[in-house]
Amino acid sequence: MRVLFVCLGNICRSPMAEGLFRQMLQSRGLDSRIEVDSCGVGDYHAGEPPDPRAMREAHHRGADISELRGRVIRLNDFEQFDYILCMDEDNLQALRRMAPETRRAHVGLLMDFADEGTGAEIGDPYFGSTDNFGRVADQIEAGCQGLLEHIERQEASD
Ligand code: 4NP
Repeated sequence: MRVLFVCLGNICRSPMAEGLFRQMLQSRGLDSRIEVDSCGVGDYHAGEPPDPRAMREAHHRGADISELRGRVIRLNDFEQFDYILCMDEDNLQALRRMAPETRRAHVGLLMDFADEGTGAEIGDPYFGSTDNFGRVADQIEAGCQGLLEHIERQEASD
């Protein structure tokens, strides 16, 4: 099982999702069965480490994302991954435009897996204040929690 998180720059939201979801998997002993990665729909920050505000917020929640480096989405990601989950509608439109007809991956919004009331999109925190990173991380944790429950239900029914 492979999960890919996607945002615009791959330096704020999706690396936080990668780190926080991986941590959730580790705490349940599922990290050897579920692979996690992240990327951006834009290549502005390819090769760069996460934004310091994202690193700080992830660290605060127990995840070290300092080793992650930005990369842009590739066509074969649609074959390699089971779930490609993005943060906002702009990301989703970009992914749908490039997704091959024969893709293997489920492509959707991460927040589709969260409980109602936590928001449909995870807004871009890049130009906002540091406070936004805490709100974004709360949303990411809610989405990842729902995703994990969804995957566990799927596996139980297989
Ligand atoms: P991200 O945030 O998509 O959550 O990584 C952004 C990072 C950089 C830019 C936009 C969003 N940028 O325009 O450089």
